Amino acid sequence: MEKTCRERRRLLKRLALFAGGGLLLWKYLVPSNNGKAKRELLRVNKADLPHQGALVFRESRVAIVHEGEEMYALSLVCSHLGCTVNVTSKDLVCPCHGSVFNRQGEPLKGPAKGPLQRLVLQDQGGTVAVLA
Ligand code: FES
Repeated sequence: MEKTCRERRRLLKRLALFAGGGLLLWKYLVPSNNGKAKRELLRVNKADLPHQGALVFRESRVAIVHEGEEMYALSLVCSHLGCTVNVTSKDLVCPCHGSVFNRQGEPLKGPAKGPLQRLVLQDQGGTVAVLA
């Protein structure tokens, strides 16, 4: 009986060591993203970019906005609970709980307290890539 308990403990220790070793190997051998490599959400021909206003990609939940001299991409994922924000002629409105954001993505009306995420626009010759 005592021998069986000892063997069971030894087996559990080996399993714990094996699992810990596996986790260490995973951590050091599998490359992590660390926010350095951005993921391409979509690519747009430069000719299709708006001269003024917003170009909305609902499936990708992205809007490319051209305001004055500035062009930028906004995530349409609401900073409150993640619903997809609608783009209107003057602002962005969340249909779920009524948050309103200005064209720069800053919250004008809650419950959302944070801004919409600005995404990276990367010039790639004849196209522009939106990266997150
Ligand atoms: S998810 Fe947008 S206001 Fe709640």
